[in-house]
Parts: sequence; C-alpha cells; structure tokens
Amino acid sequence: MKKILVTGGCGFIGSHTIVDLIDNGFDVISVDSNINSDLSALKGIENITGVKVKNYTFDLCDLEKTRQLFTENKDLVGVIHFAALKSVGESVDKPLLYFQNNLNSLLNIMTCLKEFNVNNFIFSSSCSVYGNAKELPVTESTPMEEAESPYARTKQMGEHMIQDFSRKNTKINSILLRYFNPAGAHDSNLIGESPINKSTNLVPVITEVAIGKREMLTVNGHDYNTRDGSCIRDYIHVMDLANAHTKALQYTIAEKNNSNCEVYNLGIGAGASVIEAVKAFEKVAGLKLNYTLGDRRPGDVEAIYSNYDKASKNLGWQPKRGIEDIMRTAWAWEQKRSEVGSKV
Ligand SMILES: NC(=O)c1ccc[n+]([C@@H]2O[C@H](COP(=O)([O-])OP(=O)(O)OC[C@H]3O[C@@H](n4cnc5c(N)ncnc54)[C@H](O)[C@@H]3O)[C@@H](O)[C@H]2O)c1
Repeated sequence: MKKILVTGGCGFIGSHTIVDLIDNGFDVISVDSNINSDLSALKGIENITGVKVKNYTFDLCDLEKTRQLFTENKDLVGVIHFAALKSVGESVDKPLLYFQNNLNSLLNIMTCLKEFNVNNFIFSSSCSVYGNAKELPVTESTPMEEAESPYARTKQMGEHMIQDFSRKNTKINSILLRYFNPAGAHDSNLIGESPINKSTNLVPVITEVAIGKREMLTVNGHDYNTRDGSCIRDYIHVMDLANAHTKALQYTIAEKNNSNCEVYNLGIGAGASVIEAVKAFEKVAGLKLNYTLGDRRPGDVEAIYSNYDKASKNLGWQPKRGIEDIMRTAWAWEQKRSEVGSKV
C-alpha cells in the first residue's frame, strides 16, 4: 500500500479525503495542529473505514518537527497539503497570521519533499486566486486578478512558490487544485464540517441558523450585478472534491502528468446565488430559513464558477452531486451535531 501524508487531516476536506484515499487502497497518516479542528474526525474516519489513522499533533510551521515526521516515515509516496487557515474575513483582520501560518507551513513541507525525496505533491489552492475574474466560467488559464484578501494572497503566493520550486526540482510532481466552494458531508453522517473557529462559509451558516445556533442568516450584499443581486458561487460536494485528490495522486504516481506542476479547477461548473442556495436548503429541509439582506462583506467577489473540463479530461474526474445533495448531507450532519452537543 502506498503511504500518503495528509496535512490538516482532522479538518473538513482533509478528513473526507482520507476516507476516499483509504477506500482506494492508500495507507494514510495525518498531521494537524488542531488550530481549527479537534481529534474527533479521526474517530469518524475509523468508524467509516475500519482503519485507525496515525495522526501527529503539531504545527507545520515547526520545521524540525516536520522533518522528524518525514524521518519516521521514509516510505512516504506523496503529500496532500490541506493545512492552512481559511477564513477570508479573519485574514483581512490578521494578515500576518495568515502569511505566517499558510506560507511557513508550505515552505516546510516543500523543504521536506526535497530532503526526503517524496515526489508526489498535491496542494489545496482556491478559486480565490482568480480574484474578480473578468471571464466566466473561469478556466485554469483565466488570468489571476488582484487578490481580494490576504487569505487569497496566500493561495496565489503558495502557487507561485510551488511553481518556482518545480522548475528546479523536476522529479517532484505537483498538482495545484483550485477548489470552488466545498460543502456537504459524508453520506454516513459520521464526519462533516466541525470547525473550532466560527464558520463564515455559507452552507454551515445556513444549517446553524436552521438548527437555532444563530438567529439569522445575513445575505452579504444584494446589489451585485447578478440575477438576484446576491453573490454567485460554485458549490461542490466535499466527497466529489475528496475523490479528485485521490485521482490527482493516482495520476502523478502513474506519471501521466504532462508537466511537473499542473493546475486544475474543481467545481461543478455551475453557479448558485446565495439566495438560490437558501431556497435549495429550504426545499431539502422542508422549512423556512430566517434571513435578511445585508451589506457587502470585504474580500468577497461578485460571481465565480468553474470550467472543470481539464480535470475531467486528464484526471478522469467528474462531480456526481449537486446543491441539493450538499444541503441534504450538511443538514443531516448539523442535526447530528446538535443531538450530541457539538462533540463531533
Ligand atoms: N473549505 C473551503 O471553503 C475551501 C475553499 C478553497 C480552498 N480551501 C483550502 O482547503 C484546505 C482545507 O480546508 P478545510 O475547509 O478542510 O479547512 P479546515 O480548517 O477544516 O482544515 C484545515 C486543517 O488544517 C489545520 N492546520 C492549519 N494550520 C496548520 C498548521 N500550521 N499546522 C498543522 N495543521 C494546521 C487546522 O487545524 C485544520 O484542521 C485549506 O488549505 C483551505 O485554504 C478550502
């Protein structure tokens, strides 16, 4: 079995990806500082897969500890690097924290890839690298515009760092995956999105309003130049996203890549407005959501959705789920979390 290191394995996308990797025959280890998670996702992964994943708890900004992990795992074949802080709003308030955490952890991982000859690397990037894109849908060759937040800047800078590194380190194959808006939960309802820090992403905010943890949803901006005035995003189910990582890894391990640093969009290729997402939730959950129209939020772009033809053609990846699957699984997860007092 090929051994893969997942960084940020206790987090939302990392935990779902571990399940998909195990389902596809990989041996997985994880590292997480738990700055935005706890260890409960590992229990969920074990209950789904029957596999107890070895997890290291430390901050990847610590190079010596990172080296120690690689020293203890000389048989690593690849790394999927999810670990990062991800709140757009928080990054506007605390830019240095975002640069320090997201860029130093990435640097340390790249240093160890090189030192320990680990040749397959998958990086969590984001559609936020496109900024306010001038053309829709965005393809991988749509130019990056000015980053709208320090968070987005860390993803642009991370991509540039990996591209520069790849020019020199030609044996290392890197794939930069630009996620659109991941949401939803595993169908088993044993793992889902459980951030420690208050979520600012739309789907968890919707489910938290519906369960009564928040009073109401504020639709941030209703005067955008879109069909109903609210922002448009491309929501992708987390298990579809997880499977793209497995496919990307299989692709680089089999050396099917054309260059040693490739970029892929991962979305479903269609946008839903915030208000349409609310309507999809109301339909699936059979209830009315308390929401109000509010001001624009700094750092938000007006509309963005993907063209994912490249991932489909090269990686053989296809999203299978839509916005209602996202809402159904996210709502089931929220109800379960509230039953067990948010211990998951
Ligand atoms: N969720 C989204 O909407 C979204 C969209 C685009 C890109 N991404 C990217 O995908 C990746 C995963 O996102 P997620 O939604 O699973 O977030 P998450 O916060 O649930 O998971 C990230 C995990 O990384 C850990 N972490 C952060 N900094 C660390 C460090 N220095 N050392 C060790 N662990 C650290 C956190 O504790 C957390 O468990 C991130 O890089 C994020 O920027 C997420």
